[in-house]
Amino acid sequence: MLEQIRETADFIKKSVGEMPQIAIILGTGLGDLVNHIDIRKELSYKEIPNFPVSTVEGHSGKLIFGNLGGKYVMAMQGRFHYYEGYDMKQVTFPVRVMRQLGVDRLFVSNAAGGMNKEFQVGDVMVITDHINLFPENPLRGKNYEELGPRFPAMTEAYSSGLISMADDIAREEGIRLMHGVYVGTPGPTFETPAEYEYFRIIGGDAVGMSTVPEVIVANHSGMTVFGVSVITDLGGKDVKEVPTHEEVQKAAIKAQPIMTKIIKEMLARI
Ligand code: HPA
Repeated sequence: MLEQIRETADFIKKSVGEMPQIAIILGTGLGDLVNHIDIRKELSYKEIPNFPVSTVEGHSGKLIFGNLGGKYVMAMQGRFHYYEGYDMKQVTFPVRVMRQLGVDRLFVSNAAGGMNKEFQVGDVMVITDHINLFPENPLRGKNYEELGPRFPAMTEAYSSGLISMADDIAREEGIRLMHGVYVGTPGPTFETPAEYEYFRIIGGDAVGMSTVPEVIVANHSGMTVFGVSVITDLGGKDVKEVPTHEEVQKAAIKAQPIMTKIIKEMLARI
C-alpha cells in the first residue's frame, strides 16, 4: 500500500507541480463549487495510477487544482462509495494520497437523509460527529506507523475550530445552519422507516452512504476535518415520502449556493 500511495503521489506532483495543503471532497451538494475554482490543472481519475474510477451517476471523476477563496486547493470531483463495490482501502486511497502530498485540512460534503425532527429538506448540516455503521473499518489490517497510529483517537474527528468558523459565517450571512451527528451506512438501500427511527434513537441526526471512511483515514493521518451534509430527504416512522436518487440530486442542487458560500468563506478565513 505504501508503495502505491507514493507512486500515485509522485505522479500527481510531477503532473501538477505545486501542491496545496487543503483538499475538498465534492460530494452531492458541492458540485457547483467547481465553478468557483480558478482552475490551474485537472487530472482525470483515469490517468492517475492506482486510482479507482468512479461509476455513480452524478459524479464525474476528476482531481482539480486551483484557487478558491484566495487559497490554493485540491478538489476531488467524484468520490468512491463502498456500495459501488470498492473495498475500504480503495474508498480511502485518495485521502492517503492527499496526505502524502502534504494536505493537512480536509473538507468533505455529502447528501444525507434527515432523522432529526427539526430538519427540513434543503437544510445544510455541519457534521459535529459521526457513527460508523459500515461493516468494515478502513484501518482494519496491518497498520503502517508512517501513516498513523494503530489505535487513533476519534474524539474530535471534526474540528471544533472549523465548526465555530462555519457558525460565525452562518450567523453573519443569515444562513440557517444545523448541527448534527452523521450516521454512515454501507447502502445502497435507503433506510426503512424503522431504521431511520433506530438511527435517531442511537444519536444520529442524518444518515448517508459516504464520508465516514474518508474521515477516519484523514484523522488517522493527522488531518483536520470539516464535514457538511445537505439534507435531501427526511425519514422516520411518520414520514410517508419515498426518497429517490433524483429527489436527492434535486434537493442537493438547491442547497449548493449555501454550501458554496460557507466553504468559500471558510477558505478565505483560514
Ligand atoms: N439515506 C441514506 N443515504 C442518503 C439518504 C438517505 O435517506 N439521502 C441521501 N443519501
